[in-house]
This record gives sequence, structure tokens and C-alpha cells, in this order.
Amino acid sequence: MKTWLVTGGAGFIGSNFVLRARSRGLARIINLDLLTYAGNVHNLDCLREDPDHVFVRGDIGDRDLIGELLGRYRPDAVLNFAAESHVDRSIDGPDPFIQTNVVGTFTLLKEGLRHWRGLSVAEQAGFRFLHVSTDEVYGSLGPADPAFSECTPYAPSSPYSASKAAADHLVRAYHHTFDLPTLTTNCSNNYGPRQFPEKLIPLMILNALEGKSLPIYGDGLNVRDWLYVEDHCAAIEQVLFEGRPGEAYNIGGACELTNREVVRAVCGVLDELRPRSPYRPHDSLITFVKDRPGHDRRYAIDSTKVRSELGWHPEETFETGLRKTVEWYLRHADWVQSIQSGEYQDWIRRQYGEP
Ligand code: NAD
Ligand code: TYD
Repeated sequence: MKTWLVTGGAGFIGSNFVLRARSRGLARIINLDLLTYAGNVHNLDCLREDPDHVFVRGDIGDRDLIGELLGRYRPDAVLNFAAESHVDRSIDGPDPFIQTNVVGTFTLLKEGLRHWRGLSVAEQAGFRFLHVSTDEVYGSLGPADPAFSECTPYAPSSPYSASKAAADHLVRAYHHTFDLPTLTTNCSNNYGPRQFPEKLIPLMILNALEGKSLPIYGDGLNVRDWLYVEDHCAAIEQVLFEGRPGEAYNIGGACELTNREVVRAVCGVLDELRPRSPYRPHDSLITFVKDRPGHDRRYAIDSTKVRSELGWHPEETFETGLRKTVEWYLRHADWVQSIQSGEYQDWIRRQYGEP
């Protein structure tokens, strides 16, 4: 069996990826996660008895630890999901974004290269360093601009997207200069089970369930492309198995929606699934609040390359994916409770003011 070193595998996308990979028996997984506020080891509870899942708490910026894990487990691939991932937090305090997203990725690359150089020629040919990135590195589009392709120049505009862009450039440089077999994926906005409720969709679901206001930034006409997390994980697998080293692949759902449309859709599903809620119709809870500084207006992804070269396409529509997502949050009140820590409450107070 192959061995993969997965970083950030206790977070939203990483845990969905690890659970999916283990349920399909794709590889033994060494899961390295620092367990920041966004990481939740309970996401991995069903792997507790799985001998082919090894959880290690640690930092991707810890050079000695990375070297030790690579030496001990000799992985066939490194998949880097670990990141600080929330734009609003990057505005509130950018330092950990630079540390994890830039310096951490650099450390993984340096140690990854050292490891790769020590492999046999056959092992070197099979090794992959897959870096999970975002469409936000391309900046913001106007209403009539074509969607981001892999050739769109980078123009990041938040501390988060700038840190991800810096990491992407380092990944590219490590391929170009040292031949490290890298792959980069740039994906649009994900939603689905286990997403930390600081992000738009889970925040709206949980606020609506409690009858709290649904804060839409600015005029709510900012556009994002939405992809169900399982579809993103399937694309990453496909890129890992069949992507060409040195290449980047844009991944998206071909599903551009304004934030108003997204929040109304969440409310519609809740109206249906919670017919006796005192807060029905839930969209009466919508409030328009101060805009995010530097708020990117529109993202759109052209995923022709991953579709035509690798045959990937999303399985879920926004309707089916959103329904699954809302149902998951309704069924997992215990999960919600476990992450609504003091730190979470502090963030909500800082960001949105006293309730
Ligand atoms: P997340 O914030 O839910 O999870 C990040 C995980 O990384 C957490 O488990 C956290 O504990 C861990 N982590 C943070 N710093 C670490 C460090 N220094 N060392 C080890 N682990 C650390 O993020 P997510 O939404 O799951 O995003 C995963 C990746 O996908 C990120 O690289 C993000 O940039 C990218 N991405 C996210 C989206 C999205 O919509 N969420 C879209 C495109 C790309
Ligand atoms: P978010 O989930 O933070 O993802 P990103 O900023 O990476 O796209 O936000 C998605 C969109 O929703 C973005 O345009 C900002 C907006 N938004 C709100 O309007 N209100 C909120 O409370 C949050 C968290 C986001």
C-alpha cells in the first residue's frame, strides 16, 4: 500500500479527504495537524481503530519533525492541506498566515526535496508533492471578465490570498529549479460537512437555527463559485494519480452565485427541513452589515483543464450538495457544540460585535 503524508488532515477539507481516502483503502495516511482552532481531532473519530491512519500533532513549520516523519514513514506523496484559511482572520491578524502558509509550506518543500533526493530513481519518479491552493490567488474579476484559467496572472488581494500565492510560487520554483515533482490545485469555495462555522455557509446555518441575524457583508452581490467538498477531494485524488508534475489545475463547480443567493438558498432548505421553527421564514433574519475591507467582488473558475485532461467533473449540484450539508449540521449538534469553544465565541464577538 502507498503511504501519504497529509498535512492539515483534521481541518475541513483535509478531514473529508482523509476519511474518503481511508474508506477507499487508497493509502496509509500519516496525518500531521497542529490542531489550531480550525482543526478538530473528532473529525477523525471513526479512524481511531484504523492501523493505517496515524495522527501526529505538529507544525508543518517544524523542520525536525517533518524530516523525522519523512525518514520514518517514507511517504510516496506529501499532500499539503495545512493552512490558515479564513480571509477575515487574515485581516484581523495576518502573522500566522505568513508563518504557516508561506514559511510552513517552504519548510515542507525543503524537507520534501531532501527526502526525494534520497529515493531510488524509480521511487523518485513515483513521488508527488501536492499543494492544495485556492482560486483567490488570481484576485478579483469584473462582471464580464472571463473565468480564471491556469494562465491568469496572480493578483492576490487579501493577506490570506497573498500568503497562498507566495506558497504557490515556491512550489512552482521547487519544480522548475530542483525538479521536485509538484502538483498544485487551485479550487473555488468549498462547502460541506465539518466546515468550521466562521465561513459563510455553516455560519448562516447555525445562526439561522438559533434565530440569530444572518450578516451579509456590503450589498451581498459578491460572487463566488461553489463546490461540494467531496467533489474537491475527488479532484485532488485524480490530480495526484494522473496530473502532470509541475502543473497546476483549477478546480471549480461552474456554480457562480451571489452571497445573497447562497444565504437565501440556505434559508430555503432550513424552511423545508425545520417547518416548525419559530424563525421561519429564515431569510427574515438576513441583515446587511459593514463590508469586508478589500472584499473581492467576483471569483469564477475555468476548470476545462482538469475536466478534459483528467476526466474529472463534480457529482453534486449546489442544490443536492447544500441539502446534504444542512442535513449534516442538523444531525451533528454534538460536533457543533464541541467546536463552539471560548475561542470561537471571542472571534464572533470581535468580528460581529456583541450579540
Ligand atoms: P481549515 O482552516 O478548515 O483547516 C486547516 C487545517 O490546517 C486545520 O486542521 C489546522 O489545525 C491545520 N493547520 C493550521 N496551521 C497548521 C500548521 N502550521 N501545521 C499543521 N497543521 C496546521 O481549512 P480548509 O478549508 O480545510 O482548507 C484546506 C486547504 O484548502 C487550505 O490550504 C486552503 O487554503 C485550501 N482551500 C480552501 C478552500 C475553502 O473553501 N475552504 C477553497 C480552496 C482552497
Ligand atoms: P468566506 O466563507 O469567508 O470565503 P471567502 O472569503 O474565502 O470567499 O466568505 C464567502 C463570501 O461570503 C465572501 O464574499 C464573504 C461573504 N461573507 C458574508 O457576507 N458574511 C459573513 O459573515 C461571512 C463569513 C462571509
